[in-house]
Amino acid sequence: MFNLGCGHLESMNEKNYIEILSETELLEKAANASSEGITISTMTQPDRPLIFVNEGFKKLTGYSSQDAIGKNCRFLQGEDTNQKSVAKLREAIKKGEACTVELLNYTKTGDPFWNRLSITPILNQDGIVTHYVGIQSDITDLRKTQVELRLANKELKTFQERIKKELDQAKIVQHLLLPTKFPQHDDVRFASLFIPMDEVGGDFFDVIELSDDKYGILIADVTGHGIPAALLTFMLSTVFKNAAAGLTSTEQAVRLTNKRLYGNMPGDAFVTMFYAIYDTSSGILTYTQAGHPEGYIVRKSTQEIIPLSTEGTLVGAFSDDEVSFSQKEIQLQSGDKLCLYTDAILDILDKVDDDEVDHDFESLLLRNSMRSLEQLFNAIYEFGLECGNLKKYPDDFTIVGLEVIEK
Ligand SMILES: Cc1cc2nc3c(=O)[nH]c(=O)nc-3n(C[C@H](O)[C@H](O)[C@H](O)COP(=O)(O)O)c2cc1C
Repeated sequence: MFNLGCGHLESMNEKNYIEILSETELLEKAANASSEGITISTMTQPDRPLIFVNEGFKKLTGYSSQDAIGKNCRFLQGEDTNQKSVAKLREAIKKGEACTVELLNYTKTGDPFWNRLSITPILNQDGIVTHYVGIQSDITDLRKTQVELRLANKELKTFQERIKKELDQAKIVQHLLLPTKFPQHDDVRFASLFIPMDEVGGDFFDVIELSDDKYGILIADVTGHGIPAALLTFMLSTVFKNAAAGLTSTEQAVRLTNKRLYGNMPGDAFVTMFYAIYDTSSGILTYTQAGHPEGYIVRKSTQEIIPLSTEGTLVGAFSDDEVSFSQKEIQLQSGDKLCLYTDAILDILDKVDDDEVDHDFESLLLRNSMRSLEQLFNAIYEFGLECGNLKKYPDDFTIVGLEVIEK
């Protein structure tokens, strides 16, 4: 098809140049204008030698036309050339098909370079493959970037795995802060349901024995997730325990916790909490709500739901002069159940934002008022999942409460 040689265009003078410029020469000029390597090999001679190489090929490989013409282009291959790519080329040529591979080639001076090679068959009128056109692109820099990128990704993966491991460890330590056993008393029972999400969260609860007849019950939520939230729950746990010990006023315990946390919390972090003290001898529950969702008493005897709320700001974000907390009391009755939770369930109910759902939630609490605290908590858990059409909560799910034992 082409009878191409190189260099003869140079010998033409300007005058007859345009006149005698044949179609073939025009094609040759066009091919030489490309910075990619362009090669043509014939399929009609033994070992399919090259019959044309452009300037781009010479620049890329360092081989001249004399070096390359008449040889099979495999002379660019060497020791580390991927044999799978060579086999792919061989197979394509055997079938007369087009093919693109990336393979390591070597220049005349022996320097390796990555070649993205595309070969395309040229057919005669009878549909017989007579030639192949090859396009060679130097992708050495691209490969280098790819290798660097792969390395960077690998390092990132290792880093992520390390962080994940550390987060898992933080999660384990954080769970050790939560009580697994509660104080025992003839008149009151405590229970909790804690379903953590995968990530470390900021939920915290505790039940502390203040004296023979008084018990403090706390639920708290530290802002954020991850390590910062975990560290804050560690801090909160110690600060709160120390602050609450010996205090029979929930307001004072929360105020003291705020005083000790304020200035030691990072950035704009804060804690919300609900703290209650139950006096088993009087049956009185004293409570303070500090930026936290309200608590509930599920009263079995009268089939009532009694919300528990007080005035109260967030904890840890403002100085002692800026905060205001208060406390209220309620006389508990035999069979009463106190439920305190973090916002996982409320977030879902709020999202659904339907009066009917609130009504359903209330009737669920009442229906379950006859059952044990654990059963009530499980029912709340399931209700939230059903409402939100979820398989699991997007946040830690935490409920803690007490039940006045019926005699
Ligand atoms: C037009 C054309 C250009 C080619 N260019 C190259 C090339 O730049 N580098 C290379 O390693 N192989 C190139 N080859 C592939 C080899 O010539 C040869 O087909 C391959 O090594 C498989 O055949 P073999 O097993 O006979 O070596 C090209 C093939 C054709 C048809």
